[in-house]
Amino acid sequence: MHAVYPGSFDPFTNGHLDVVRRAARLFDQVTVAVLYNPDKLKSFMFSVGERMRIIRESLRDMPNVEVDTFEGLLADYMRQSGARIIVKGLRAVSDYEYELQMAHLNRQLNPAVETLFILAATRWSFISSSMIKEIARHGGDVSKFVPEPTLRALNAHFGRGEGVE
Ligand code: PNS
Repeated sequence: MHAVYPGSFDPFTNGHLDVVRRAARLFDQVTVAVLYNPDKLKSFMFSVGERMRIIRESLRDMPNVEVDTFEGLLADYMRQSGARIIVKGLRAVSDYEYELQMAHLNRQLNPAVETLFILAATRWSFISSSMIKEIARHGGDVSKFVPEPTLRALNAHFGRGEGVE
């Protein structure tokens, strides 16, 4: 079975990576689908191309995972891709209301699709892309929370050199 894991992934964290690993064990094929939102280009730190490159590098050891991008409604992308499962990561109760609303709306828009929630490992349950960006912006160490390709991209973005120390 083919599952799609959609998101903004700005940037890709260890929490995202953990959800992909778990999904890749459950499904034959997993597509990580990065949202391209032309109305919000300025609010993203990384372009869709950069985010896709970071994710591809982070998932190099997972042969049944591919990275794609989509624009517009996820329900339409699901129709085009032929996948029937949307995978979403859930952290705390605070994620639930928003995710519940999206899952029900996606069901209305495309009744052929099921949304499945995967819990990331407990140690990642408190991280989010926005917190990672905030810590990195102020020079804090995020190396525990993100894969190496994300760390390199953050260092490059903030002019701290390409390498990982
Ligand atoms: O990582 P995020 O920002 O929580 O991901 C949200 C995402 C990309 C899954 C969601 O915003 C989305 O599916 N956007 C596409 C537009 C759409 O289908 N909206 C939902 C209508 S119910």
